Amino acid sequence: MNLLVTGGAGFIGSHFVLRHKEKFPDDTIVVLDALTYAGDKSFLEPVLPRIRFVQGNITDIELVSQLVLRYELDTIVNFAAETHVDRSIKDSVAFIHSNIVGVQALIEVCKASPSLRLLHISTDEVYGDIADDDPPRTVGSTLFPSSPYAASKAAGEMLLMAAMRTHKIKCAVTRCTNNYGPHQASEKFLPTVVRHALKNEPVPLYGKGENKRDWLYVTDHCDALEVVLKTDWAFWDDKIPGVHESQPTGSGHFFNISADAERRNIDVAKEVLKILGKPESLISFVADRPGHDWRYAIDSSAIRKLGWKPQVSFEEGLKKTVEWYRAKFKNPA
Ligand SMILES: NC(=O)c1ccc[n+]([C@@H]2O[C@H](COP(=O)([O-])OP(=O)(O)OC[C@H]3O[C@@H](n4cnc5c(N)ncnc54)[C@H](O)[C@@H]3O)[C@@H](O)[C@H]2O)c1
Repeated sequence: MNLLVTGGAGFIGSHFVLRHKEKFPDDTIVVLDALTYAGDKSFLEPVLPRIRFVQGNITDIELVSQLVLRYELDTIVNFAAETHVDRSIKDSVAFIHSNIVGVQALIEVCKASPSLRLLHISTDEVYGDIADDDPPRTVGSTLFPSSPYAASKAAGEMLLMAAMRTHKIKCAVTRCTNNYGPHQASEKFLPTVVRHALKNEPVPLYGKGENKRDWLYVTDHCDALEVVLKTDWAFWDDKIPGVHESQPTGSGHFFNISADAERRNIDVAKEVLKILGKPESLISFVADRPGHDWRYAIDSSAIRKLGWKPQVSFEEGLKKTVEWYRAKFKNPA
């Protein structure tokens, strides 16, 4: 494959690039990243001599088209997005720009190069939250986003759906749960808990900390994306038997990805404090986030039927994650 990985200097994108290059050293990888506060080129250091790195924006249709033609790329994997819910509540303009206008720009590039495939990374947050006794959401469930972030991701998906149907672009969309692991921007939940705990400062938890998240170790997510990339994508009128019957379009475009590792935020925070040898008394409840989703749960049977299953247990993944941030915050670059 000759890949354009957009947002490849961010949390998940950087793991994807490192892992893909290790598994498929002969593949061409071009990373396009705007290097916002969340991007860090140094994550890619081990492979930088063997990939192309371009600093730029996915909204720049001309630039993306040029990269596709110049490096004869056949697949775009789109991680580029504004991703922090709290930021989207304060100001959603950048979210509209990257998560909606940016997706439309990639669609324009695909329209001009009909053989190009686009794998778009979306989120379980597009479904909105669910009650404790609700069944897991399937790819056909209604989208009820709660935050401007989730709404912008849902809007991007809608544009892709329309482009798949009207322009027959070759596209797959994955909706994953909360990723965790090294390389996440410092303001996200786990890095925040570690950073505060290491300084013996109060560890802020929204509300009573009882909201639940479903945790997916970042490399397990990357492996699921490789499974989707390896699959013969079924386009508008086709189906992969046994896999795509539940798809909203009757075709294989949408995949939920979950390791089914639901935990309450407070339990995760306590576990982190335990790993760091810090007291639970550091936990400090703060005013809840407006529109804070209670719980997500998704049915990921389609990707599992294609052979994927998570390899990293929550306990093991959390330990690796905490140790990485412990080292980072003790030795800031
Ligand atoms: N982290 C999670 O738990 C999670 C969960 C579900 C879905 N996702 C989705 O996965 C994708 C990657 O998430 P992440 O956590 O790695 O994000 P991140 O915020 O860590 O990284 C995003 C990267 O995209 C780049 N970027 C942002 N806007 C850009 C633009 N317009 N043009 C080019 N580059 C741009 C940033 O510089 C950064 O390197 C996102 O689409 C996100 O919606 C993430």
